[in-house]
Amino acid sequence: DLELSDLLTGVAFASGGSGYDPLTSIPATATSSTGQLDLFLEYKEKLITLVGEEEATRVISEGIYFTAMGANDIANNYFSIPLRRHQYDLPSYVNFLISSAVNFTMVSRR
Ligand SMILES: *[C@@H]1O[C@H](CO)[C@@H](O)[C@H](O)[C@H]1NC(C)=O
Repeated sequence: DLELSDLLTGVAFASGGSGYDPLTSIPATATSSTGQLDLFLEYKEKLITLVGEEEATRVISEGIYFTAMGANDIANNYFSIPLRRHQYDLPSYVNFLISSAVNFTMVSRR
């Protein structure tokens, strides 16, 4: 279980089976990448309530962030369930994933 004080030292919003493509998380009933971002934005609000704006800004700006996504998009979504293959050839799908990754990173910086 998480204690409120754990918000100061590290949290994960990872959800196995998710990816940048919102379609990827559906068959895995995983939390989508946008759902994970919502949790992160909610986390920031909780942190501000817990320690105040200044300390929250310090924690967030000195934090190290990892995302590991994309393999499920390609393997599970593009190849196993070929919905996206009707829409995109592989290079276009990769461009879509890169654009999603850039947008994900920009939103998480808000
Ligand atoms: C990323 O954001 C840009 C600008 O808002 C938008 O045009 C583009 O469609 C987005 N890409 C994806 C994959 O959602």
